[in-house]
Amino acid sequence: MTIKEVLYTKEEIDKRVTELADTISRDYKGKEIIVIGVLKGAFIFMADLIRCLNVPCIVDFIRVASYGSGTVSSGEIEIKKDIETNIEGKDVLIIEDIIDTGLTMSFLMDKLKERNPHSLKVCVFLDKKHRREIEFNADYVGFTMDEGFVVGYGLDCNEMDRFLANVCVIKE
Ligand code: IMP
Ligand code: MG
Repeated sequence: MTIKEVLYTKEEIDKRVTELADTISRDYKGKEIIVIGVLKGAFIFMADLIRCLNVPCIVDFIRVASYGSGTVSSGEIEIKKDIETNIEGKDVLIIEDIIDTGLTMSFLMDKLKERNPHSLKVCVFLDKKHRREIEFNADYVGFTMDEGFVVGYGLDCNEMDRFLANVCVIKE
């Protein structure tokens, strides 16, 4: 049986998400945001974040596959489900659950840039900064974390534990 240790509690997450939403609302004042959630991991973070925003937003989703299964990256990325919104000339904010090697987000940024949005930024819930294999900096970061594989608040391990309200680190 795997042991899980709480890393961020629901209360800590709620507080940080509110702070992030305040910053984003300030930065996008007077604009409308196209918010693109990266499925599946970002769905809970995105739902909480947009409900704290003070600017109007349009919601869409994209799904990419980057991890085969478990905790090891397959290294291959492809779009499994594309957005349905025309983002040309729009202010686009990608919402992601976690950035690890940076490969997924670099790939996604390149793909979406080709569609000529007016602006393109990234808001990520968790950032494993020291694990980068490719340079990538998110515009908005919930928490910067150290080593470890985390589950909960939308994040999974083999599709398990997305429903947990706290974010937990998996211990062997
Ligand atoms: P990257 O391309 O290595 O940055 O991988 C990012 C993707 O890997 C994320 O969108 C997650 O789906 C997955 N991932 C990376 N680390 C974790 C983790 O600790 N828990 C759950 N999923 C993770
Ligand atoms: Mg993800």
